[in-house]
Amino acid sequence: MTDELHNLRVNSDRMLDAFNELSQIGATGAALTGEAVSKRDGGVNRPTFSEAHLAARQWFREQIEKAGLEFRTDGAGNHSAVLASAGRVGGGFRYAENATQPSPPYRDQTLLLGSHLDSVPNGGRFDGALGVMAALEVLRTIKDAGLRPRLNLEAIDFTDEEGTLVGLLGSSALAGHLRHEILQNPRGGREALLEGMERASLSDESMLSAARSKDSLAGYLELHIEQGKRLERAGIDIGIVSAIVGIWSYRLSFLGRADHAGTTTMDERRDASLGASAFTLSAREIVMNDFPNCVLNIGDMEFTPGAFNIVAARVDVSLEFRSPDEEEFQRLAVSLLERAKQEARRFGLELRAESLGRHSPSLMSEKIQHALADACNNLGLSHVPLISGAGHDGQSLADICPVGMIFVPSVDGASHSPREYTEWEDCVNGANVLLQAALMLGM
Ligand code: GLV
Ligand code: MN
Ligand code: MN
Repeated sequence: MTDELHNLRVNSDRMLDAFNELSQIGATGAALTGEAVSKRDGGVNRPTFSEAHLAARQWFREQIEKAGLEFRTDGAGNHSAVLASAGRVGGGFRYAENATQPSPPYRDQTLLLGSHLDSVPNGGRFDGALGVMAALEVLRTIKDAGLRPRLNLEAIDFTDEEGTLVGLLGSSALAGHLRHEILQNPRGGREALLEGMERASLSDESMLSAARSKDSLAGYLELHIEQGKRLERAGIDIGIVSAIVGIWSYRLSFLGRADHAGTTTMDERRDASLGASAFTLSAREIVMNDFPNCVLNIGDMEFTPGAFNIVAARVDVSLEFRSPDEEEFQRLAVSLLERAKQEARRFGLELRAESLGRHSPSLMSEKIQHALADACNNLGLSHVPLISGAGHDGQSLADICPVGMIFVPSVDGASHSPREYTEWEDCVNGANVLLQAALMLGM
């Protein structure tokens, strides 16, 4: 790369202004006062296709248009800013002088940069939002420098990364992995998905039409907060992600019988709460004793009928487990489902188990990891390889194009909570790594 490209940096103040404006959309708690965006207690509540999420998407579109970039959307509701390549601008066969590695014949390929604007319920303001703002800032920086890339650069906001409705929805659709059956039985419930799609003027058919060809994609880069404590503890600036864990989700239903809570003797009850509770404790033991690489979460239990004075007839348990190793999933799933059956039998219950999503673990591209390490070295930033315990859109894309991720330190490792915080200097470091890597790969 030329010195001009090596020395290019994002505009930190402009990115901060945009980030702070975005943080006000769906702001929760202290962030509502407007001053808390510079403090550590400002979160956002932007579940997919909620009013706040739709407002954030609209705001992003306006930012793109104001920046003089091309706006693009697709049937999955992914929203993007595009900086067209020198080849596309020039009618398909012309390269800009600064396009250092022309490889005629011209191929209209895109390097995606991005993340997501949806949040978990009552989440933090950095998760996803930082990556989208940084991607937009990278495009603006390159455009303002009067440069035309060899590849199209696209800053993308993926739909429903967090899984309020489906999980990695926009990225799976774009990668061509979305299937009709997944939309019929999503982890957030079919009704919620239908309502959400209607609010966003989308449909099953449009979702399934969003796939792009493998040939059209040159790669995907994402900046994200670490959401753990490893970088902060080690005092290291940047994490270069080597792999992303896989995630399997199930709904387990423990089925018993409704009875009078005062007159039914304890030994006569078929109390669904007992099976669900006993399973919760033993599932933890299974993971801790036999699957040290894995984690498991029971994030919700729904009691039916759900009253003080009725024995629980049914408890629906939201179960999710994660592993960096594909092999391990099958073994862990068998152990958990076997234990759930045992606990159901022990309390005279029936068990129903429904699989609600399987995202495989993915390896990041070696080539991109090297580019990110070079970018860190050039910028004087320390770096370390990390496995991501959180899910990310890159795992949808890893089998169709090279993918790489940059992590910046999370204070106290807090995430999926309004306590989420990253020092702005770290955010800017991450954005400059993203910029430099995009220049290495895209010019
Ligand atoms: C997304 O952030 C997830 O890992 O659940
Ligand atoms: Mn995220
Ligand atoms: Mn998240």
